[in-house]
Amino acid sequence: MGAPTKRERAESGNSQKALVTGCAGFIGSTLTDRLLADGFEVIGIDRFSDYYDRELKEENLAAAMQHPEFTLIEADIVEMDCFPAVDYVFHLAAQAGVRASWGRSFDIYTRDNIQATQRLLDFYATDVGASSKLKRFVYSSSSSVYGDVPLPMHEELMLQPVSPYGVSKLAAEHLCYLYWKNYGVPTVSLRYFTVYGPRQRPDMGINKFVRAIRAGDPITIYGDGSQTRDFTYIDDAVEANVAAALAAPLSGKPAFLGETFNIGGGNRISVRDLIAAIEGATGKTARIEYADEQKGDVQDTWAAAAKAEQGLGWSAKVRIHEGLRRYVAWIDGGL
Ligand SMILES: NC(=O)c1ccc[n+]([C@@H]2O[C@H](COP(=O)([O-])OP(=O)(O)OC[C@H]3O[C@@H](n4cnc5c(N)ncnc54)[C@H](O)[C@@H]3O)[C@@H](O)[C@H]2O)c1
Repeated sequence: MGAPTKRERAESGNSQKALVTGCAGFIGSTLTDRLLADGFEVIGIDRFSDYYDRELKEENLAAAMQHPEFTLIEADIVEMDCFPAVDYVFHLAAQAGVRASWGRSFDIYTRDNIQATQRLLDFYATDVGASSKLKRFVYSSSSSVYGDVPLPMHEELMLQPVSPYGVSKLAAEHLCYLYWKNYGVPTVSLRYFTVYGPRQRPDMGINKFVRAIRAGDPITIYGDGSQTRDFTYIDDAVEANVAAALAAPLSGKPAFLGETFNIGGGNRISVRDLIAAIEGATGKTARIEYADEQKGDVQDTWAAAAKAEQGLGWSAKVRIHEGLRRYVAWIDGGL
């Protein structure tokens, strides 16, 4: 007997419909593939922003586009008045990147990160959206909301982002909370700590380092390389979304709604040690050039992991050396 068809699932009441915003991006496309594999019907929204090549995003979505349970809406959330009635919203659409968020570019960050989030939340809070069956609204936030705080970073710390990007992600977190508080939109915010792996955005460090080191090209380290990051493998970040959507309320009480959770890989290492690990994974020696520290970069990130473990039953599984090995194998495969 094969998997139930869409109609059979709809008739049995087990049809699970998900909206993934930012579905053509690094994390959104990987989550889309995972949900489809799990039998969800997925509607994806993406505006194919020009932050990086459209071609890469089309490659990200290539498998999903062949799947009968996937529908793509190419549109800008800020311009939309109506969103699909779904069981779960996974809101990943955003203008990512810390370093590009200064100056006039901040307009794009306020638009894609703050206004887009408000549009979605408001729809599911009021009008036709409020009568939909939404079970969870999972928002992709960022460790950038913390700033330079004492380590490890835990969810109750005072938040002092040091980049305009971090400010925009924090504003959207606040929107999630207030739409939960005022309208009961069942939000959960996930603060990712540097996600890496297949499809990673071209502006991100590990992607640039792995490709340059493989090719024998020089890499640039900003600062002295002693800064540390808690790296999270893509499959773990995707699993956190599924856990946040499906986690049962604790003791009959939805304790996690309106709340934020760190999603960190438990792989805190310095940039210098990361380069050494990439040298190990590629079998090549890095040619390193040093440049001034970049404004908006924090010195360290390190996730306190207990809240996600207790509240969502989630913890990271993939260690950095294994994650790098998988990522290099994916790039070696010609992708
Ligand atoms: N990658 C990381 O390490 C990391 C870390 C912390 C937080 N995050 C967050 O995770 C989410 C996904 O990040 P990513 O690395 O996959 O980024 P990405 O740039 O690969 O994907 C984001 C997608 O959102 C789309 N988008 C942006 N604004 C839109 C709008 N107004 N309407 C429709 N689509 C829109 C873009 O076209 C893009 O395809 C983002 O919210 C980001 O802030 C990522």
